[in-house]
Amino acid sequence: MKITQQIRQVMPPPVSLANALRAQCPSHIDLLDLSQAVPGYPPCQPVINAGVAALCDPATHKYAPALGFEALRVAHAEAEGVRVDQVAITAGCNQAFAATLQCLAERGRSVLVPTPYYFNHQMTLTMQGFHVIEWPCREDMGLDWEALPNLLQPDTCAIVLVSPNNPTGYVTPADDIARLLRVAEQHDCALVLDETYRDFIDAAQRPTTIASDHLIRLYSFSKAYAIAGERVGAVIAAPELIQQIEKVIDCWAICAPKVGQIMALAGIGHAGDWLSGWRERIQARERLMLDELAGLVGYRVASSGAYFAWLRYPGDRSSTAEAEYWIKERGILALPAAVFGSAEAALRLAFANLDEAGITELGRRLRA
Ligand SMILES: Cc1ncc(COP(=O)(O)O)c(C=O)c1O
Repeated sequence: MKITQQIRQVMPPPVSLANALRAQCPSHIDLLDLSQAVPGYPPCQPVINAGVAALCDPATHKYAPALGFEALRVAHAEAEGVRVDQVAITAGCNQAFAATLQCLAERGRSVLVPTPYYFNHQMTLTMQGFHVIEWPCREDMGLDWEALPNLLQPDTCAIVLVSPNNPTGYVTPADDIARLLRVAEQHDCALVLDETYRDFIDAAQRPTTIASDHLIRLYSFSKAYAIAGERVGAVIAAPELIQQIEKVIDCWAICAPKVGQIMALAGIGHAGDWLSGWRERIQARERLMLDELAGLVGYRVASSGAYFAWLRYPGDRSSTAEAEYWIKERGILALPAAVFGSAEAALRLAFANLDEAGITELGRRLRA
């Protein structure tokens, strides 16, 4: 069978690497899993109840409108301070990204992506035929403004920013987002802002609503309401782009899963306090983890926030070799910098799912 070079050159899903590493955990050590960027707890009861009730309603099992249920679009628009015609509901934030990029430009044009990157962004861009221009972050994982002018090309049609970032946890300050948007406007390209983890930082750290036809905001209901398997995300963009995205959704999935949409709507209505509780718990885990890692000789947390920390380790092993060493010798599973397009001696710690005992144990194992 002939398969395109374009898809062959896309990296394999890193989840296979995580599984291969997991299999190397010695049987006498309890695995400490810091590889998962998905809530490790179930949704709150009102969200589950809404899903169960939806399953029992025969109407649920038909298609929804391609852009999503009106009620969910309205609720998300209200929560974001935008108009409903600026909202598309997608089958997860990954589809939001792919559908957006499908509309933005012809194949072969370039997209600027800060590195380390979220691997699915790099994979999507490669399979869609974009040229990915890597924009290495500064030492503190912030945006490197000095490097930017030389990287932007006349054919750059989008700049991608993930904040809070996966994999580094870095939260881009609101002023920097506004500055990057001005660059995008001057360059007449889009700023695609992926805010999948924004519910896990304080409201004061989040960018305020900025109105610009050059700004495209992507969101995921997966993490906020612990419904990753139900596949619901959203795009906020100019109505002109939303109308084109409707065509993509219609062809790729027809609509986002309806049970998920109903659960997301229940989340917006009833899970506010529950979500705040998880935000506070995960922030407490982050503080504890930073304390645990602070005294370790040679290690340094370059940045952290929301779900992730970017940990530089001592020694000269490649990040893949270091991840193998961690799992075989310490029973700790963390993804290497390499899968995020970074040559740094660093690992991504997805700490959000480790409770206090797990984080204390992480510190103990790294000190041993
Ligand atoms: C930055 C980022 N964007 C998007 C996604 C995918 O979200 P969804 O489950 O809504 O497709 C993830 C999931 O890990 C992510 O880390």
